[in-house]
Amino acid sequence: MRIVLSLFGFLAAAFLTIMMFTTAGWVRPPIVGVQTGFRGTGQEQLVSAQAKRIIEAANALPEAIDPASPSGERATAAYKNVKVLTDLSTEQFNRVMVAITQWVSPEQGCAYCHNTENLADDGLYTKIVARRMLEMTRDINKNYTAHVADTGVTCYTCHRGQPVPSNIWFENKGGPHAGGWSAHNYGFGHPGAANGSTAMTIDPLTPHLFDNAKIRVQASTSLPEGTSNASIQQTEQTYALMIHISQGLGVNCTFCHNSRNWASWEQSNPQRVTAWHGLFMMRELNGAYLEPLKVSYPENRLGPLGDAPKANCATCHQGVSKPLLGQSMAKDFPELGGKSAP
Ligand code: HEC
Ligand code: HEC
Ligand code: HEC
Ligand code: HEC
Repeated sequence: MRIVLSLFGFLAAAFLTIMMFTTAGWVRPPIVGVQTGFRGTGQEQLVSAQAKRIIEAANALPEAIDPASPSGERATAAYKNVKVLTDLSTEQFNRVMVAITQWVSPEQGCAYCHNTENLADDGLYTKIVARRMLEMTRDINKNYTAHVADTGVTCYTCHRGQPVPSNIWFENKGGPHAGGWSAHNYGFGHPGAANGSTAMTIDPLTPHLFDNAKIRVQASTSLPEGTSNASIQQTEQTYALMIHISQGLGVNCTFCHNSRNWASWEQSNPQRVTAWHGLFMMRELNGAYLEPLKVSYPENRLGPLGDAPKANCATCHQGVSKPLLGQSMAKDFPELGGKSAP
């Protein structure tokens, strides 16, 4: 009997060990700490050769497309219904069409956005959305260099060869709850993807990446006076947002903060300033571009509360601190507002 039990114990231990080694999320050693802040502050990121390989494979660039001459016949002269790419030559215009097909709808082809009988027709919603996406991409590359630098973005940064990017989100008010006098949970206590499976608010994104809710919650005085009077609810919202940011970038909190004082900018890494600009960019992308597209989408693309699909930090970053590991595709696409290397 004892032998049977110990055999069972051995098998169970072996099984659990194998599970531990093979389950996704477990990283094979050696794991190396890379210092990112001042000595002694514990500001470091953990990396392993295995994780690095996985990330590099996921961020390989698609095939390059030959450059096009900006001179020659104008696209507006050759085509009937050009509203955004009005500054391009026909050659450049065609290059953009080839590129966006490769980046957004490689399987579906031109027909994903076009009535192929008449390319000037605006009948498909995907074309209306794509036209606005062209404007959005140019806006990011021209006006948000405080965040994207000269690296910039293309459609591929978010889409990665699929019409619907992997990381989109909708407004979420939490599950159903009793009405009347019963307590309202305000979306708290529901572990989910957006809050890192904690009991903090189920939707930190609507208040912070769409609306402009207060992020600063840490008291700067010992008594609740002045401006340091954030509620527990606000504080949990900030922490849930910070979890989203960390997960979206594949980093831990000390990539930006010195954890002895979350609020202090002097003790933070410069990346925190880049992130701060990112928060403004995010609200602009969601507020000015993505949410207003609500009227153009078919119903099956909208969220449970009827809002349009929106972007968050993970939509571009996809688990790395610089999207596509900092490789610039935009520099080869002046057509999309990209800045070529000096
Ligand atoms: C992801 C959506 C999308 C895909 C895929 C796409 N297009 Fe377009 N296409 C657009 C948009 C948006 C416009 C309008 C651009 C503007 O207004 O500046 C456009 C306009 C055009 C026009 C101008 C038509 C006219 O007379 O006004 C041509 C030609 C064209 N596309 C060809 C193609 C070809 C060929 C392909 C496949 C290789 C393709 N497109 C794939 C979105 C797309
Ligand atoms: C900041 C990230 C981002 C960038 C950059 C971006 N998109 Fe999008 N795109 C989105 C999001 C989010 C959606 C909404 C997904 C959905 O439709 O459910 C979307 C939707 C679309 C759709 C509709 C897909 C569908 O079937 O509903 C098309 C077409 C599209 N984008 C084309 C483009 C093109 C072309 C570019 C480059 C000029 C581009 N996008 C750049 C984030 C982005
Ligand atoms: C990519 C950078 C980045 C990462 C990673 C990050 N934060 Fe932040 N954090 C910020 C920025 C930017 C702000 C300030 C936003 C503002 O003031 O508008 C902030 C603000 C905060 C605040 C509020 C400070 C105050 O002024 O009251 C707290 C608390 C905080 N972060 C905690 C965390 C925790 C905990 C983590 C890890 C789970 C984390 N952060 C990860 C960038 C980051
Ligand atoms: C439209 C795409 C896009 C979105 C959305 C986006 N970023 Fe970025 N981010 C970039 C690009 C591109 C870079 C690289 C800039 C460079 O090369 O210096 C970058 C760089 C950064 C860096 C600097 C990393 C480093 O190693 O120096 C931080 C921090 C950052 N982003 C945080 C955020 C946060 C936080 C959000 C969400 C609030 C966000 N980003 C949303 C495109 C995006």
